Amino acid sequence: MDQRERALAEAFDGQAARFERAPVQTDPVALGRVVEFARLQPDSRVLDAGCGPGLVAEALLAAGHRVHGVDLAGEMVRRARERCARFGDRARFEQGSVSVLALQEPFDAAVSRFVVHHAPDPVAFIRAKAERVRPGGVVLASDHVTDPDGPAARWHQDIERARDRTHERNLTPGELADAFGRAGLSDVQLAEDGFDLDFDEWFDRGTPALPKAEVRARVLAGGARGFDVRARPDGGITIRCIRVLVRGVR
Ligand SMILES: C[S@@+](CC[C@H](N)C(=O)[O-])C[C@H]1O[C@@H](n2cnc3c(N)ncnc32)[C@H](O)[C@@H]1O
Repeated sequence: MDQRERALAEAFDGQAARFERAPVQTDPVALGRVVEFARLQPDSRVLDAGCGPGLVAEALLAAGHRVHGVDLAGEMVRRARERCARFGDRARFEQGSVSVLALQEPFDAAVSRFVVHHAPDPVAFIRAKAERVRPGGVVLASDHVTDPDGPAARWHQDIERARDRTHERNLTPGELADAFGRAGLSDVQLAEDGFDLDFDEWFDRGTPALPKAEVRARVLAGGARGFDVRARPDGGITIRCIRVLVRGVR
C-alpha cells in the first residue's frame, strides 16, 4: 500500500460502521440491480474490488456466485467476513490493493461499486480488474457520476472533497464508459438510475475537510446533473444523485 492508499484505508476504517448502515449502500433494489446488470453465468467466480463491508459480495453470494473480496481497509474486510460467514468457503476476503492483488486463477468477473471515484487513475483501476478476469469474462463498475458541464462538475467536485478528503473525482457517465474502452474492454453497456441522499446522513459519515455549516451553504448555492439539490420544508436537504452501471467484456 502506498501513502495515498494508507490514508484511504484509515478513512474507511473510521467510517465502516456508518457506511454499513447507510440507506444508499444497503438498498436491496440497488444491490439487485448490480447483480442483474452483470448477467453472470451461474456459479461464477467474482472479484469484488474495493468490497467494503461485503454488501455487494453478499448479494452476489445470495445469487449463487462465489466471491473474492479485496479492500484496503482492515475494518471493512473484518465486517465483510462477518456478514458473509454463512456462505462458508464460497466467500473469501483479503486486505490489500486491487492493483497488486496476486494473479492466480483468473476470475469469471470483476465488479466494483462506488470505488472508481477514489481511484487517481480510473483507467488503470478498470484495467487492473480486467487483467484479473479470463478472456470473455465480465467487468462491471457502478459509481455515482457528475455533470459533463465543466463549472457544474467543478462545483460538485469541491463539495465532494470538502465532505470527504479521500474523494478523487466523479466521472461523467460517458467518461466511465470510455474508461472501459480505454482499458481494452468490448461490448460496453451503460445504464443509469437515480438515488436520493440526505445531506446530514451523508455528511456525518464522511471524512470532511471543511466544517459542516460551510459545506451545507455551498451545497445550497448550486446544482449539477448527478447532484441536484432540493431544500426540504423540514429544513433538511435531499440530493438527487445519478448512479451508473457499466459492463464490459474482456
Ligand atoms: C465507498 S466504499 C464502497 C464499498 C463497497 N464496494 C460497497 O459498495 O458497499 C469504497 C471502498 O473501496 C476501497 N478501495 C478504494 N480503492 C481501493 C483499491 N485500490 N484496492 C482495494 N480497495 C480499495 C476502500 O477502502 C473502501 O472500502
